[in-house]
Amino acid sequence: MICINIIGCGRAAGSLASLWRQTGLVNIGGVFNRSLASSRKAVEALGAGTAIADLRQFEAADFWLIGTSDEQIAVTALKLREAREGCRSSIFFHLCGRYGTDILAPLAASGHRIAAVHPVRSLTHEQILLADFKGTAIIAEGQDSTLNALETLFVSIGGVFFPVKNIDRGLYHAALSIVSNVTKGVTWKAQNWLEGAGVPQEIAADLVQTLLSITVDDIARSGAKHSITGPIVRGDTSTVEAHLRALEEGHPADVDVYRVLARTIFELALERGDLDEASLKRLDFLLSGHETVQCSNT
Ligand SMILES: NC(=O)c1ccc[n+]([C@@H]2O[C@H](COP(=O)([O-])OP(=O)(O)OC[C@H]3O[C@@H](n4cnc5c(N)ncnc54)[C@H](OP(=O)(O)O)[C@@H]3O)[C@@H](O)[C@H]2O)c1
Repeated sequence: MICINIIGCGRAAGSLASLWRQTGLVNIGGVFNRSLASSRKAVEALGAGTAIADLRQFEAADFWLIGTSDEQIAVTALKLREAREGCRSSIFFHLCGRYGTDILAPLAASGHRIAAVHPVRSLTHEQILLADFKGTAIIAEGQDSTLNALETLFVSIGGVFFPVKNIDRGLYHAALSIVSNVTKGVTWKAQNWLEGAGVPQEIAADLVQTLLSITVDDIARSGAKHSITGPIVRGDTSTVEAHLRALEEGHPADVDVYRVLARTIFELALERGDLDEASLKRLDFLLSGHETVQCSNT
């Protein structure tokens, strides 16, 4: 059976460990968090593994998962190199989207194999099931032989492996964080605006969720660029003015939020060539935020 040791068994590593447990193909070895109490808690939640008090107490394993926060990966790699000095070579990998393999270089220098393996979804460790994880993209960086070994591990829980080389990690992670987390932030904002407009809370939540689900279907069917509709791409400038006026009155702190978000649609409309010269100029002015909107009630 494959054996995995875990350093940093929180939401992400805990979710993956739980999935591997469900396959019955993987043995969870040692688990090391910042405190022994936290390691024990993680082991108890998993119903597997052994809480470890010191990095030197780990037994050998096929894979070592570094699931600490992003900021702790580099220092953990250094500590692991020291703790595993003279031990047989293993595969060490982290789960962070922001970093590639460079951050594990000290381990590679000691003869270990290293990889960066980023599951592209949120992982909360709350009773995740194999069915939930099925189809999750796994963006993986490392040498081919190392990735082949890891691919088997991730495919066993339903992941779809995508090897990459030398991607711009800042831009890569910015894109994924924006699409996932900003969608949640914007959803929360939209619900507030609906409630501010007088729509009851439960209906507001329902409306936004239904619309989001239709939006996701649209994007899957035709792509963002082709499926977008609304007043900005139509050049309905008076409707955009009405939005801004309502926000200035009821939620003045959100006017800039609206403008920034609306500008992404404006750019898309420009790229599609949707707007005539007059609408383009008016929208550019309205969304620039240089002045408070003075608009007629047309
Ligand atoms: N959660 C997600 O949705 C998700 C998705 C994809 C990738 N990731 C990546 O997965 C990694 C972990 O994220 P997370 O959300 O799982 O964080 P998390 O829930 O905060 O878990 C981090 C774990 O690491 C432990 N830890 C922190 N510093 C440590 C150290 N120096 N030595 C040993 N253990 C340490 C913490 O232990 P204590 O409990 O003792 O504090 C905690 O158990 C990050 O690199 C993140 O970018 C997360």
